[in-house]
Amino acid sequence: MAPRVFVSRVIPEIGLRKIQQHCDMDLWTDPLPPPREELLRRVQGCHGILTLLTDTVDAELLDRAGEQLVVVSNFAVGFNNIDIQAATQRGIAVGNTPGVLTDATADMAVALLLAAARRVVEGHRYTLSGQWKTWEPLGHIGQDLVGKTLGIVGMGRIGLATAKRLHRGWDMKVLYYDIRPNLQAEQELGAQRVDFDTLLENADFISIHTNLDDSTRGLFNREAFRKMKSTAVLVNTARGPIVVQEDLRWALEQGEIFAAGLDVTDPEPIDPQDPLLRLPNVVVAPHIASATVTSRNRMAEIAAQNLLAGLEGRPLVAWVNPEVEPHWRARKNASS
Ligand code: DGY
Repeated sequence: MAPRVFVSRVIPEIGLRKIQQHCDMDLWTDPLPPPREELLRRVQGCHGILTLLTDTVDAELLDRAGEQLVVVSNFAVGFNNIDIQAATQRGIAVGNTPGVLTDATADMAVALLLAAARRVVEGHRYTLSGQWKTWEPLGHIGQDLVGKTLGIVGMGRIGLATAKRLHRGWDMKVLYYDIRPNLQAEQELGAQRVDFDTLLENADFISIHTNLDDSTRGLFNREAFRKMKSTAVLVNTARGPIVVQEDLRWALEQGEIFAAGLDVTDPEPIDPQDPLLRLPNVVVAPHIASATVTSRNRMAEIAAQNLLAGLEGRPLVAWVNPEVEPHWRARKNASS
């Protein structure tokens, strides 16, 4: 009998087709995520679940699914929506989609950085509103980029790709803050690993690329903004809660920093009435950094591969908790 799976949203066809060929698939076709109660109901009796970053996968959900559940495949590189410890304790494998959205996300970080530094969206609004009357020698002055200092928070794949673009394209000097050194960044870009305060105090542009966990939640707060240059631009394409949004608003209003470009907010979606959105010096995109044809197709392929591998007892292509393997095999054997 084909394994039962729940797929919590329509993902690119290339992934869905693969799943459909091998599984008894229940697909949530609504454009909005399944409400919690519906999600809990739909996962019952499933052997595998394909989730999005908008689905909270916690102990309650894993238990509700039942003893036969062996794999959760997240359609994202980030997995802060999943309680990994709870999955590992139960012998459930968790997969994600790293590597295939690196360039798309780095491109978005650079796009936001440029837009915020050069006041592109503010200028667009100005044009739309009919305020553009003449060429203004003193108007719309933004920040220079060439030769400035870039601070990367989280020098993983995406941080490195962003740093490469800005070092090679704009000759930026690269500082980074990470719990581990990144030798490639140091050798290829001359990047220098520094403590958080040194990065805050010296960077002209700061781009966030770290995971969201207990050590990074609220990392950018009032205290951090006070240490940044008043000309600095902050970019966040990682996760909203790494920045205390109210403190960011305060920093932008007070001129503690120059501008911000965000692809992620806290919560998501941000309330359209949120006063942050009324500020001229912030650009907010609706979490679209991975939204390119190639990235989303590759994410769908990997998510499907992870799901099928987990169901068939093969190692996951991208395995968030590989240490679960012996326990996962035992759970799988017990349920088959
Ligand atoms: C991820 O994959 O974690 C992004 O935030 C969405 O593609």
